Amino acid sequence: MALRPLVLYPDPLLKERSVEVTEFDEGLFTLLDEMAETMYSSRGIGLAAPQIGVLRRVAVVDVSPDGDELIELVNPVIVAESGKVPSEEGCLSIPDYRDTIERKAAIKVHAVDRNSRAFELEADDLLAICIQHEIDHLDGVLFVDRLSRLKREFFKRWFRKRSEGRE
Ligand code: CO
Repeated sequence: MALRPLVLYPDPLLKERSVEVTEFDEGLFTLLDEMAETMYSSRGIGLAAPQIGVLRRVAVVDVSPDGDELIELVNPVIVAESGKVPSEEGCLSIPDYRDTIERKAAIKVHAVDRNSRAFELEADDLLAICIQHEIDHLDGVLFVDRLSRLKREFFKRWFRKRSEGRE
């Protein structure tokens, strides 16, 4: 296994829509293993394949306090949702920035595991939010894309300043 470098905003890869997984082979197993390792070592609670430069519909999440409840999602689809909650989020692809957006409070997800077995997952609280964030990545959407126009301008200014500071 190996750590994979993170793709960072504003890399255009993060705007791409990922394609469905059709081959459940060694390549997928390696991808999932490396995604989990990269997520844990970055102290994240979720990671989507585009964040390591792979445009496949694959995500890993683990919102448990001890980091021992890994969930692998291949071709995940939200099939039901309810309620709304404010959600303060960050993203491994946008280091050091956090802001509050709105998410669905509870969701039901259909996905398959690494062996192509279908499963259904009902989630609320942090897990629901995290899964929505990761599925957004598979559609080329970042949490900052969901900010109000005013907050988005603030984010862009923040990013510009930070980039200038690094030059
Ligand atoms: Co993210």
